[in-house]
Amino acid sequence: MLSKALLASLALLASGSLPDGPIIAAWQDWSACNETETLRAVKEGVNVIFWFAISLVKDQSTQQPTITGGPDVECVAKVRGAIEQLGLPTSHLITIGGWDAPHPDTSFIGEQWFDVWNEWNNRLPVPFDGFDWDLEGNDDVSSRDNEFTPQCLQLVIDMSVAAKTAGLLATLAPPQSYFDVTTQEFNRFLNNSDPQWHPEFHYMGRNSYAYLLAAAPAGTFDLVEVQLYETFSPALRSLDMGMPGDEYLRLWSKALLAGWKINVTDPMLPLKGLVPVHLEPSRFIAALSFAPGSSAGRSAFFWPDQVQRAYQEADPSKRPRGYAFWNIAMDGSKVNDTSQKVHFARSLNSFLHVRPTEAEDPFVV
Ligand SMILES: *[C@@H]1O[C@H](CO)[C@@H](O)[C@H](O)[C@H]1NC(C)=O
Ligand SMILES: *[C@@H]1O[C@H](CO)[C@@H](O)[C@H](O)[C@H]1NC(C)=O
Ligand SMILES: *[C@@H]1O[C@H](CO)[C@@H](O)[C@H](O)[C@H]1NC(C)=O
Ligand SMILES: *[C@@H]1O[C@H](CO)[C@@H](O)[C@H](O)[C@H]1NC(C)=O
Repeated sequence: MLSKALLASLALLASGSLPDGPIIAAWQDWSACNETETLRAVKEGVNVIFWFAISLVKDQSTQQPTITGGPDVECVAKVRGAIEQLGLPTSHLITIGGWDAPHPDTSFIGEQWFDVWNEWNNRLPVPFDGFDWDLEGNDDVSSRDNEFTPQCLQLVIDMSVAAKTAGLLATLAPPQSYFDVTTQEFNRFLNNSDPQWHPEFHYMGRNSYAYLLAAAPAGTFDLVEVQLYETFSPALRSLDMGMPGDEYLRLWSKALLAGWKINVTDPMLPLKGLVPVHLEPSRFIAALSFAPGSSAGRSAFFWPDQVQRAYQEADPSKRPRGYAFWNIAMDGSKVNDTSQKVHFARSLNSFLHVRPTEAEDPFVV
């Protein structure tokens, strides 16, 4: 009989690494730190947690680079301690950004921001294994945060390269239109609209994160979690045209992993021309959500059995390493304006086998 302490130490991951094998990742809701919900998610399958979310801002009184926002760090340490007691390998990242959040202040370059972040991180009761970029747009359609400046794009790349050098994780969480295999179109704006598809919607990207992946040294980003549930995403367009969800997921994954090119004509960027975008299956995560309330019909929703079919029918080289979902607090809630409840952690685990399911759990007697 192994002692609890030994089990816990066996489960410890080297800091800055991902669990082996398939991944079920999940974001926490803004600032959330609920021990009950988080432990349940981890037991049911989640092995990567994105805590949510900090910003990189210049303090207006001191003019110094400062980390703002995020969950209560004492609470995160307590919950992480409880996860370690369970002996279930889990990586923990802190997300930078979120919808309506400021983009990093480019008065400081990426290497400087990494040093600031790393000092902040090392002062935490339990440091994070790295960070997850979720820089997005802003409800105010003319906000400056609906544009990625060339400096901001470079900052994301440089800070991520510095994290890798330090042995930490860096991941990307693009809304699907920011990383869109269906088009070569590229620009740095996050307030585009499409005259052919919900022209009233003004918050589409055009492959800005595809540029980040293409412009960074190979291997900089450990995972790319593509948010299929972005409002009026390319996925929703295909589903609305009648494509079944499992078929969509299978064809989209295959196309994305085959790679595509983006047409960069921006004179302010170092890369120009038709730039190839290539993501390995081991770094590819499809991100799902519950289409709650009024987002039904505006946010692509996939039933877990559709996800399972798409995964199991695909050659391993043509499917994602795993899935992510937004968010832990919503797991088990009613979906897509129906009375049916979906448990993503449990359902994904039933075929990805990240955690032992109850029947095979050697610790349940
Ligand atoms: C944590 O989540 C549980 C289960 O959803 C809920 O009952 C509880 O009220 C939450 N705790 C806090 C402090 O929000
Ligand atoms: C999109 O955002 C940019 C950057 O803030 C702004 O200059 C531009 O006017 C916005 N476009 C629209 C259509 O509002
Ligand atoms: C790239 O975009 C430019 C400007 O819109 C266009 O002139 C050019 O033909 C495009 N290149 C390709 C290969 O589509
Ligand atoms: C989700 O709800 C929308 C709007 O009611 C519907 O058109 C769509 O078919 C539903 N999606 C699934 C996968 O059931």
